[in-house]
Amino acid sequence: MTDTPTLPELIDMQIRTTGPMSVATYIGLCLTHPTKGYYKIADPLGAAGDFVTAPEISQMFGELLGFFLVNLWQQMGGPKKFTLLELGPGRGTLMADALRVACRAEGFRDGLDLRLFEINPTLIAEQNARLEAYDAKWIDGFDKVGPGPLLVVANEFFDALPIRQFVRAEDGWHERMVGTNNGRRAFGLNPIPIPASAMPKTLADAELNVVLEVGLASSEVMNRLATTISTQGGAILAIDYGYARTQTGETLQGVRGHQYADVLDAPGEVDISAHVDFEALGTVAAKAGLAVQPLATQGQFLARMGINERASALIAANPGSAGDLSAAKARLISPEQMGDLFKVFCAASPGLQPPGFA
Ligand SMILES: C[S@@+](CC[C@H](N)C(=O)[O-])C[C@H]1O[C@@H](n2cnc3c(N)ncnc32)[C@H](O)[C@@H]1O
Repeated sequence: MTDTPTLPELIDMQIRTTGPMSVATYIGLCLTHPTKGYYKIADPLGAAGDFVTAPEISQMFGELLGFFLVNLWQQMGGPKKFTLLELGPGRGTLMADALRVACRAEGFRDGLDLRLFEINPTLIAEQNARLEAYDAKWIDGFDKVGPGPLLVVANEFFDALPIRQFVRAEDGWHERMVGTNNGRRAFGLNPIPIPASAMPKTLADAELNVVLEVGLASSEVMNRLATTISTQGGAILAIDYGYARTQTGETLQGVRGHQYADVLDAPGEVDISAHVDFEALGTVAAKAGLAVQPLATQGQFLARMGINERASALIAANPGSAGDLSAAKARLISPEQMGDLFKVFCAASPGLQPPGFA
């Protein structure tokens, strides 16, 4: 019996047999290979994992999203049947905190059809443990949401989807590829230039070696959900690190054990992510007929949703935890920590006024 190849061996074999692969194909294999991808094999979250996310920092994050959801549900007239979908729910912490708050609104729990979009079996088990009481169902495609209004929440999901990279060279733009050099994985360029007509006109004068990142997978997800929301009503809220206007510059990064790591080393063991182009997502959502809110920073959004009041109430109820609660609040909203880096995007049915936006 022979050992099955490791993910690095599989990737190197594919490069040897079919040539260099696009950065998007490489990221897709690293993160979501069916049996060896990073998001398929373990729980990456928390102190023992590779990174910590906002809902794992404090219950306040999910609770304020719960208020957001109730507010929109009420604006929609409190539908008797609606779908709440979370993309990449991690350990289920955000949704458990949000629903603890939201289900206090009369009628919310009765109308709720909870759907979760997740590929990680370990995390699915954790989500099941936290959300069992809400009769959660897991979906593997967006055609599997019910016919009523649809509310979608996604925290640090879009940054985990593959991006393509294009680099400006003397003779035009070329796609960046992952190949090998002296037996080691290395970046290179596809020798065939991209026709200038396929690149944004604003980049006609871009300098040599400038990198443009394009998140086609993110746009595809947004298109599917925004199209559904445009006919069924609802909204999508996405929180992630990213930029408000399409920009050049490389943001692809690897993280392992809370430290930056080379994305080409140890495929399947390194978290790979890239900043989200919120302008591109907004363009897709607007084309589908949704009203796109002005992008907020996480700090602005949480302050408008009442994080200061919520922290004060929790401190009054647990004076012994005042220091921890204040530190958690600061971590979520202060500009030096997550407050400015993370942005909050919302696209909703015209007529709805999502709270938390200017
Ligand atoms: C960075 S984690 C964020 C987890 C959670 N939202 C939180 O804030 O703690 C990304 C989440 O998206 C899931 N995920 C990543 N790629 C996915 C894909 N292609 N399809 C479905 N889920 C995916 C991961 O398993 C994980 O639950």
